[in-house]
Amino acid sequence: MKKTTHSHLHLSLLIALFLGTVVCLSAAKQAPTISSYGGLSDADAMYIKKRQLLYYKDEFGDRGERVTVDPSLVFPNPRLRNAYIALQAWKQAIFSDPLNLTANWVGSQVCNYEGVFCAPAPDNKTIRTVAGIDLNHGDIAGYLPEELGLLVDLALFHINSNRFCGTVPRKFKDMRLLFELDLSNNRFAGKFPQVVLKLPSLKFLDLRFNEFEGTVPKELFDKDLDAIFINHNRFVFDLPENLGNSPVSVIVLANNKFHGCVPSSLGNMSNLNEIILMNNGFRSCMPAEIGLLKDLTVLDVSFNQLMGPLPDAFGGMASLEQLNVAHNMLSGKIPASICKLPNLDNFTFSYNFFTGEPPVCLSLPDFSDRRNCLPARPLQRSAAQCNAFLSRPVDCSSFRCAPFVPSLPPPPPPSPPMPVPSPPPPPPVYSPPPPPPSSSPPPPIHYKPPPSPSPPPPPAVYYHSPPPLSPPPPPVIYGSPPPPTPVYEGPLPPITGVSYASPPPPPFY
Ligand SMILES: *[C@@H]1O[C@H](CO)[C@@H](O)[C@H](O)[C@H]1NC(C)=O
Ligand SMILES: *[C@@H]1O[C@H](CO)[C@@H](O)[C@H](O)[C@H]1NC(C)=O
Ligand SMILES: *[C@@H]1O[C@H](CO)[C@@H](O)[C@H](O)[C@H]1NC(C)=O
Ligand SMILES: *[C@@H]1O[C@H](CO)[C@@H](O)[C@H](O)[C@H]1NC(C)=O
Repeated sequence: MKKTTHSHLHLSLLIALFLGTVVCLSAAKQAPTISSYGGLSDADAMYIKKRQLLYYKDEFGDRGERVTVDPSLVFPNPRLRNAYIALQAWKQAIFSDPLNLTANWVGSQVCNYEGVFCAPAPDNKTIRTVAGIDLNHGDIAGYLPEELGLLVDLALFHINSNRFCGTVPRKFKDMRLLFELDLSNNRFAGKFPQVVLKLPSLKFLDLRFNEFEGTVPKELFDKDLDAIFINHNRFVFDLPENLGNSPVSVIVLANNKFHGCVPSSLGNMSNLNEIILMNNGFRSCMPAEIGLLKDLTVLDVSFNQLMGPLPDAFGGMASLEQLNVAHNMLSGKIPASICKLPNLDNFTFSYNFFTGEPPVCLSLPDFSDRRNCLPARPLQRSAAQCNAFLSRPVDCSSFRCAPFVPSLPPPPPPSPPMPVPSPPPPPPVYSPPPPPPSSSPPPPIHYKPPPSPSPPPPPAVYYHSPPPLSPPPPPVIYGSPPPPTPVYEGPLPPITGVSYASPPPPPFY
């Protein structure tokens, strides 16, 4: 069902691309006559000419849209004129807009367009410029044209829960102020959009619920980001050791096909509040260095192939509230230090091979210990299962994970001068992100809070690897509301021009 929709979509995209190319060719041919337009300044004529060559072929060989600017339109300043070109090109790249969000994208008053927010330009307070786009939950189908790169002052670009497909235009590199990029719950595909690595101001990257595939560039973890959401894609790779360099407070990699070690360099991520590695193919022991993360509140490594014991050092995570290690192949005794953590209110370690559980664990506000090898506890594995598994001791060194190199005494400040004005993301709402609908109908229009926490993939039988389905997110639990709503309460971008500093990332993942 979904598949059919996709191929139709891609087919129409192909057709549109083809038609676009034809249009571009004829436009290029007309170029020489353009200066004969009455009332058009030479500069304008040059500009349009350049544009027309541009959409024939830009320096990347990409096509553009055919946008000409009616000479009778008056723009308050050249940046808004560029914004007009960008938004009209985008409108042409939209095949379906069932909520009519772009219906008023007409004329030179781009600041009045639905979903477009203007603010004084950061480098020139006397002029207004486009600072934010918010078309979240728009159900729009189309793609992103290269012209969007003309929105050079954009700080926020939020288009979650639409049906945009294709890739992220390379011209996005011109958005030097882009702070938040939320492309979640769309139909983007192809390789990781490298262009995001070139955005110097980016703090919040949300690509979740798309169809990106292949590897994730390790440079992502050297970037000064505050939040990385790339869950529910088709990424396949080993987490690199430089993960530990990332200054993020939230990172969600769930529901991809990451494998290899859980890197010990995690212990370097001193800003970390939440990390969700659920439902991948990680296969290693748990590095004790995770215990160094004093601010971590949520740790979820469930549905992987982790082995060996839970390190006693995990008792160092003084802020930990939610710990989920379920559906792995962990063994040994649960350290009492973990169950004594003062803020721990949910510890799920079901579906492992633990053999010991200190009494203090039984008085946690919420815990799950079923399907282990715990003597005298209900709902455990059979003796045969336990004996079969436990007869083969686990050698953690056999995974050949890189050893930990601790930070030097004065740890380099993870964030550069620019103060992040708002505190780190709010306490997690610990529930899996509302996934995209698994059937073809578009996501519901109105945001509903995410469903109450439900464990993701259907419990694997015994210790099989997590559901190795090729269409990654197991459809069963999905089919409800779309992902995160706009993060902001109140008018979105810096409308008042107070600053370009934006609020913290959304609490959901
Ligand atoms: C959008 O516009 C079309 C055509 O004008 C109209 O039929 C439809 O009802 C509109 N949809 C919404 C949600 O306003
Ligand atoms: C700000 O913009 C105005 C209007 O375009 C222009 O006249 C002025 O020179 C600009 N100032 C600076 C500092 O760029
Ligand atoms: C931890 O950070 C230090 C200093 O930034 C670095 O030298 C070291 O390689 C990092 N360790 C790991 C395991 O990434
Ligand atoms: C505790 O965490 C588990 C696993 O994430 C979840 O299924 C359960 O609902 C949580 N309990 C509460 C009370 O939130």
